[in-house]
Amino acid sequence: MKIFIDTANLNEIRKAKALGLVDGVTTNPTLLAKEGKETESLIRKISEEVKGPVNVEVTGTTSDEMVAEAKVMATWGDEIVIKIPVTTEGLKTVKILSEDKIQTNVTLLFSPSQAILAAKSGATYVCPFLGRLDDISFNGIDLIRQIKGIYENYDDIQTKIIVASVRHPIHVIEAGLIGAEIVTIPPAILDQMVKHPLTDKGIAQFLEDSKKIHAKK
Ligand code: E4P
Repeated sequence: MKIFIDTANLNEIRKAKALGLVDGVTTNPTLLAKEGKETESLIRKISEEVKGPVNVEVTGTTSDEMVAEAKVMATWGDEIVIKIPVTTEGLKTVKILSEDKIQTNVTLLFSPSQAILAAKSGATYVCPFLGRLDDISFNGIDLIRQIKGIYENYDDIQTKIIVASVRHPIHVIEAGLIGAEIVTIPPAILDQMVKHPLTDKGIAQFLEDSKKIHAKK
């Protein structure tokens, strides 16, 4: 499984990188706004830090606007992936960018039919939002399973799935059980994945008992 880190926070990216956990980074306008920094310089810094795809999202709504933004953003690092919302204008943009060999990630994706169209338009990645579906009482992991099943039926589909909107470690386990190739994980959830109360209890016990071991004379 490839792990992308779902944040625009440089310190968090560095922390996860030190554990060997960053195969790529996903950002979105909300995550960038949280950092309160100028987007281009922040994305450039993230790109210098990370060996792998760095996803940055357009904010235009027409294809002309999105293509113009994407062409600039694509110069901000060695492996910039342009996130584009799945709309008619978005799919048109994906087709244009894929012909220009600019990598794309079709985002805010909530249905298998959207995933079929994104692949046909030439998307490098699709980003189905697991947690946001669960939030409205739809089973998010079913969507990932369906998209994966459809893509596997066609040899000519090269589009990769990035499981996004991950809310807890169980989402990562479920994604792993269906063989999801890439999962983008917020830093707080990476921390939760490390933790287990029995590990903490075991360490405390061993530390206590180690004090009772007789020192060599
Ligand atoms: C990642 O690319 C997505 O933008 C992100 O995972 C969305 O997560 P959220 O639903 O928790 O905002």
